[in-house]
Amino acid sequence: MLHSMTRVSHHTASGLLSATWPLMFVTRSARLCQKSNSFFPLRSAHVVSSRGRRNMATSSDASSLLEYGRNVTNGLGRITEGIITSGKGSYVEYADGRKMLDFTTGIGVTGLGHCHPKVSKAAADQCMNIVHAQCSIAFHEPYLKLIKKLLPIMPDPSLDSFFFWNSGSESVEAALKLARTVTGRQNIICMQGAYHGRTFGAMAVTRSKTIYSKGFAPLMPGVFTIPFPFWHQLGQTPDTPESALVSQCLYQLDLLLTQQTAPSDTAAIIVEPVLGEGGYVPAPAAFLEGLRAVCDKHGILLIADEVQSGFSRTGKFFAIEYSGVRPDIMIIAKGLANGFPLSGVITRKELTNKLTPGSMGGTYAGNAVACAAACAVVDAMHEENILENVNARSTELFKALHAIKAEHPKHILDVRGQGLMVAVEFASSASPGAEHDAVAAQVGSAMASRVAKKCIERGMLILTTSVYEVVRFIPPLNISAADLAKGTEIFREAVKEVIREG
Ligand SMILES: Cc1ncc(COP(=O)(O)O)c(C=O)c1O
Repeated sequence: MLHSMTRVSHHTASGLLSATWPLMFVTRSARLCQKSNSFFPLRSAHVVSSRGRRNMATSSDASSLLEYGRNVTNGLGRITEGIITSGKGSYVEYADGRKMLDFTTGIGVTGLGHCHPKVSKAAADQCMNIVHAQCSIAFHEPYLKLIKKLLPIMPDPSLDSFFFWNSGSESVEAALKLARTVTGRQNIICMQGAYHGRTFGAMAVTRSKTIYSKGFAPLMPGVFTIPFPFWHQLGQTPDTPESALVSQCLYQLDLLLTQQTAPSDTAAIIVEPVLGEGGYVPAPAAFLEGLRAVCDKHGILLIADEVQSGFSRTGKFFAIEYSGVRPDIMIIAKGLANGFPLSGVITRKELTNKLTPGSMGGTYAGNAVACAAACAVVDAMHEENILENVNARSTELFKALHAIKAEHPKHILDVRGQGLMVAVEFASSASPGAEHDAVAAQVGSAMASRVAKKCIERGMLILTTSVYEVVRFIPPLNISAADLAKGTEIFREAVKEVIREG
């Protein structure tokens, strides 16, 4: 189900950077917490959690520990100050007593909610058997069990060779290495607005914000970029027909393969089936089909990065299923193990048979505890009808957000996404190219970060994304209708207040 609402036109020249939310938002909320705690009052005694047990940290423990926050690298951004001590389902608790509805799921990770009992138990049990059965020493049971559970849910039966890593970025690296070595070609084509991670190869194919690569050059060479069918990127309005966006992007791909990187030098095209850090934009099926056709014609490998969109997030196990397109390589992470560090590269045995043993691997790759947790995730997704819940809650979420858009047609440009990977984009004079847009220029600036901050003040964690004014909704996949409604009401109030403030 692909949703896009398009009433207010918004022209933009793409490419300028305005991704300043982490700085502005973090420093402001940090100041608020440090100064007076007027939004998040500290409690003076032990905090009794909703489960009736005492949190370990007292406010004085917490404030003395918080001092060590100064010793944490400045390279990390943070949307709240404070210490999260526990989490259950759709909520997290801070040491100071704040209980927050979590619409971030730790950036799309805890799809089954925090500390899902089955997942936590599987990990705890595994801890008592073996924690580190290193993948170059021997197999371990959870690794092989996980393959057994994943095989039947692959978007294509050709995906039958697995390699587990720790983070999404590491799996992106491995996928790029695999593509280069099995094709004997060097170049990689990625998408404008793409995010694939912060390690060197992943950073080189990331095109969502310059903060990820600024000052870190030289980057990995041999990377080329085409636009993604997102109206902003082509300087179009939100109501531009999808077919026009798709044909523009495929035309640019044709030109690229004729003018810049010969097909015989091109190893792979890497694409997120839902552009994440680029603004939560589902790839139209016709675009993915077009990429597949080009790959087939030239022997190029198609890599689907499902790190954020996978594991039921979009209402199917994998977002690429909406198009029916077969990827040659698929990358998974995040929701796979519900918070335990685990990622994976999945491809065809025919391709991995060309690898030299030992050319891939890593000390912690495919950790036994993380694999045991992932086995429990896959089981829970089946047993608890997670896809059904995602699709039911998604319909409610889109309905609520479209209603909010209808209340503020001048301020909200677009509601889009798939399943429970959904975004609201605000018109704003802070957006790249906004000076060309009469409507955007009239309304307040930095709408997304201001709205997100108000949501946090009202007890809900929520994130922005992209260089545009976009708030993203990535709640737990098993969220109840009541908590979803509570979250959208908090968002509605926050939007109203920000608009009132101008
Ligand atoms: C689509 C996509 N690919 C790759 C990554 C990188 O994953 P990690 O942060 O686990 O390295 C992310 C992280 O947000 C992502 O969204």
